[in-house]
Amino acid sequence: MTLSGEMPSVSEGNYEFYRRIQIPIFQHYAKLTGMDTGKDIDIIYPMIEKSTLVVELGAGYGRSVQFLLQKGFCGRLVLVERVPEMIEYLKQAFPPLEILQTDIRYLQLPFQADVLLWLWSGILELSRQEQTQTVQQLYKNLKKGGLLFIEAPYQRIQVVGSHTSEKLIKLETEWGTLTAYLPSPEEVESDARLAGFSSFKKILYRSQTDLERVIYLLTK
Ligand SMILES: C[S@@+](CC[C@H](N)C(=O)[O-])C[C@H]1O[C@@H](n2cnc3c(N)ncnc32)[C@H](O)[C@@H]1O
Repeated sequence: MTLSGEMPSVSEGNYEFYRRIQIPIFQHYAKLTGMDTGKDIDIIYPMIEKSTLVVELGAGYGRSVQFLLQKGFCGRLVLVERVPEMIEYLKQAFPPLEILQTDIRYLQLPFQADVLLWLWSGILELSRQEQTQTVQQLYKNLKKGGLLFIEAPYQRIQVVGSHTSEKLIKLETEWGTLTAYLPSPEEVESDARLAGFSSFKKILYRSQTDLERVIYLLTK
């Protein structure tokens, strides 16, 4: 691992981490970070409620999906996830939903989406270089005028994991290690411009446990 944000095989390490995590522990992390009450979805929902096709990237155990459904979202909802154990869980928890087993980094949807949701620090799980490339890849999967929401901690990680440098974070557990790179707002903005997004906005908010977080809104 280097300070430039290159994290060789990080993605594979994180893959194993999510294969082994128990869902109640995953849910406990949501509570610790204050993501368990869906404040991110409360903010995003008015901007997407009329959308016909929403895709959630890295759906996990379905935290955000559950809030979207509770709010009565009635458009088409497609979940992207790569970990087989999570997919099994999602299938049982949300039987009618479409689930695609694929890697966000190489996403090639068979359609263009109105909205892509990449929430609860999903972007952090890629190296800096992969973040830039993936924002470009996601752009291709959106309709013109489509929206990409990227949710992340603002400036620093405060609860789950520890900083090994200003931007690299590690969470070591008995079942595996999660490695993450926290991009600065300037880096995400630069990725957005490079990919061709026509507008970039930052929405700052505080999680239920009062952590500073941000939702980046990128419009194609
Ligand atoms: C922190 S969880 C976020 C879950 C969900 N988005 C939410 O807001 O509650 C990250 C999820 O993204 C998945 N993930 C990480 N990297 C991925 C990748 N490259 N392709 C697909 N899924 C990925 C993980 O397996 C995990 O389930």
